[in-house]
Amino acid sequence: MTEIVVRPATVADVGAVLALWTVGAENADRPSDSAADVERLLARDPEALVLATDGEDVVGSVIVGWDGWRCHLYRLAVHPSHRRRGIGRTLLEHAEQRFAAVGGKRADAMVLDGNDLGASIWTDAGYSRQPEWSRWVKPL
Ligand SMILES: CC(C)(COP(=O)(O)OP(=O)(O)OC[C@H]1O[C@@H](n2cnc3c(N)ncnc32)[C@H](O)[C@@H]1OP(=O)(O)O)[C@@H](O)C(=O)NCCC(=O)NCCS
Repeated sequence: MTEIVVRPATVADVGAVLALWTVGAENADRPSDSAADVERLLARDPEALVLATDGEDVVGSVIVGWDGWRCHLYRLAVHPSHRRRGIGRTLLEHAEQRFAAVGGKRADAMVLDGNDLGASIWTDAGYSRQPEWSRWVKPL
């Protein structure tokens, strides 16, 4: 493995990001992703999608969602071939540095009930489940 580099995504990365999410992300019970969706995100906030790369390969991702009010994390994923090497933790550290820089007060993530693997890294990074809140949704 070469050195892992953490950097913002560009439009040139979109295909590789979608491929990573197909094999490496939590994909249950959520809207599907498309290239247009990712390109729209990058157009709105070029720093929002952060990648970990190993040479030419995109091996990790997180969406660092700052909407001017709250700090939301999405699409934390590490390729199965690169797991348990600290890449997920590095991505979260990068995300939290961004949130701190813009004045964010609290970061959050949606974790599917039963995703014990996902829960393990959020717990490790200092996040905890908020039992007093539920998410209310409406498909658009
Ligand atoms: C969850 C995920 C992002 C972790 O990425 P990673 O790069 O392997 O994680 P790290 O190596 O940075 O691990 C950081 C810590 O998380 C915990 N952790 C990560 N994977 C773990 C595992 N398989 N078992 C137990 N603990 C684990 C550990 O505390 C670990 O620290 P340690 O290695 O010093 O013990 C990766 O497994 C993944 O992409 N999973 C599928 C997608 C997913 O569920 N994403 C979260 C959506 S909410």
